[in-house]
Amino acid sequence: MSAPVLGSAERGAVAPEPARYAFGEFFTEHMVTAAWTREEGWHPAYLRPRGSLSMDPAMVGLHYGQAVFEGLKAYRQADGATGVFRAHDHAERFQRSARRLAMPELPTDTFLRAVDELVASDAGPLPDDPALSLYLRPLLYASEPLLALRPAHQYQFVMIAFLTGGFFADRPDPVSVWINRDQSRAAPGGTGDIKCAGNYAPGYLAQQRAASAGCQQVIWLDPVEHNHVEEMGGMNLFFVHGSGSRARIVTPPRTGTLLPGITRDSLFTLAARLGWRSGEERLSVDGWREACRSGAITEAFACGTAAGVTPIGTVHDGTTSWRIGDGGPGPVTLALRSALTDVQRGRAADPGGWIRRV
Ligand code: PLP
Ligand code: COI
Repeated sequence: MSAPVLGSAERGAVAPEPARYAFGEFFTEHMVTAAWTREEGWHPAYLRPRGSLSMDPAMVGLHYGQAVFEGLKAYRQADGATGVFRAHDHAERFQRSARRLAMPELPTDTFLRAVDELVASDAGPLPDDPALSLYLRPLLYASEPLLALRPAHQYQFVMIAFLTGGFFADRPDPVSVWINRDQSRAAPGGTGDIKCAGNYAPGYLAQQRAASAGCQQVIWLDPVEHNHVEEMGGMNLFFVHGSGSRARIVTPPRTGTLLPGITRDSLFTLAARLGWRSGEERLSVDGWREACRSGAITEAFACGTAAGVTPIGTVHDGTTSWRIGDGGPGPVTLALRSALTDVQRGRAADPGGWIRRV
């Protein structure tokens, strides 16, 4: 089955319905590819029509998971240009992920040129609709046919794109989360702090368990004690202490088992712009529940490229559950969400090289 591709019929369409653009389904017409071989290094990257890639059944990436990816977004700017959010930082994290899996690093210039070419050719159907963005998905995988256990000698880079209305649609509706008390997303010294393909499928079973408990997302705890909150399967977490001008936002520290998100990092800067303090702090599950009950924690939200800033309304932990604040989106969450989307869409000052205009 081939993926649906936004064809020319979609171009120029009057404002597409955001609800039509579920995450990761509506691909654009082109992709950028580049191969790497041990003998020759990187071959030139080029833009071509999106299509299938050939694959040997013994391909290393498929068998042993030598594959890393990124996720970044392009937004229609207030003046009609397209702006890509923190492309340089995504290029660097892509390199860090590749290094961890003993893969060749894609040079930053090649990454940025791929972004520019794909956006220039395929951002046409991206309307001036705050609910929509163009999600770029760079992927690097070991393409060598080989079943011996060693790093491959051939790799394939590919960057594809899809139009999306957001991971949780585009409304700030609070999500409910389910605490995973017995499984771990990542191990100390492992690969939790990079974006490798193998980090995601091990969370699917937990996602199903969360859904059967009536929740939308899984909260992963530290993998040693299963006691401190770390992140969600594809998003970081923030907690808001206090309110008004005395609000303070905190996120779990970089333990090595959570992904240092680029949105997470951006929110430190934006919180300061709004006059709020921010920092990294460990938080136990019991501490979270008690701080919600006492009113010390007033809000919580998830953040990431796909998720943007998404409020968390209720938490389920086995047989107990609790509400955060009044269960609705809180003012600090909403203000940070607006501050982020304003920068992403060129409606607020760029804090410094965050927007790459194409
Ligand atoms: N945590 C995980 C496990 C992720 O996959 C992502 C998404 O990339 C994030 C957090 C958020 O990171 P970013 O803000 O860079 O998208
Ligand atoms: C992202 O936010 O870009 C992610 O990669 C998370 C997930 C939806 C894969």
